[in-house]
Amino acid sequence: MTTCDDCRLPTEAKQAHDGDETRTLCKPCATLVDSDRSIYVSPLEHDDLELILAWRSNPKVYRHFRLQDGPLDWDEHVAWFESRGPDRHDFVIHYDGRRVGVVSIDGENEVGIYLGDFSAHSHGVATMALNWLCNRFNERTPLTAEIHEQNGASKQLFTRCGFQQESIDNEWLQYVYDP
Ligand SMILES: CC(C)(COP(=O)(O)OP(=O)(O)OC[C@H]1O[C@@H](n2cnc3c(N)ncnc32)[C@H](O)[C@@H]1OP(=O)(O)O)[C@@H](O)C(=O)NCCC(=O)NCCS
Repeated sequence: MTTCDDCRLPTEAKQAHDGDETRTLCKPCATLVDSDRSIYVSPLEHDDLELILAWRSNPKVYRHFRLQDGPLDWDEHVAWFESRGPDRHDFVIHYDGRRVGVVSIDGENEVGIYLGDFSAHSHGVATMALNWLCNRFNERTPLTAEIHEQNGASKQLFTRCGFQQESIDNEWLQYVYDP
């Protein structure tokens, strides 16, 4: 068993990718790079925490998060990072040489995504990153997402990636990916 050079998850399928260098990529990461060479994911690390604190403290990002209604506190943010369980995975989305957002799956197979760098919006970056997550964690389907009814961009994104709305909990729509 080897490890993918991008997502750093274990992979059996070794795939040499022809680029500037030869790298070992899992199939979903190879597909992502093939779809757009300027996009890849890496596991969230301690050095990313300051940037994602800033992103997640922007009301334009968190306004549709169910479990957050204000800017984050640094100590709580670090405590959250260090207390994550083994089945939760957070990945930084890289686009055009910079970090632009995060895509995640938690221990209950709920998916989340945001682009903190607004200059990356509407380029298909979130679509490619969410498709990547669905491919990479295909063995954990059905995947779910909880989307606020007024979050039009997110509803479009998840629908585009194959999620279907299954139920409603007040103003929260429950989306499911079960290919
Ligand atoms: C939800 C969110 C990640 C969606 O980002 P986004 O920029 O709309 O998504 P994409 O980058 O995939 O862009 C999609 C748009 O790019 C276009 N696009 C351009 N190139 C594309 C490509 N190669 N592939 C797919 N779409 C492409 C699509 O047509 C689409 O346009 P549309 O919005 O007019 O339909 C973003 O709005 C966000 O971060 N919101 C705040 C956080 C949040 O609410 N997260 C979700 C919580 S459930």
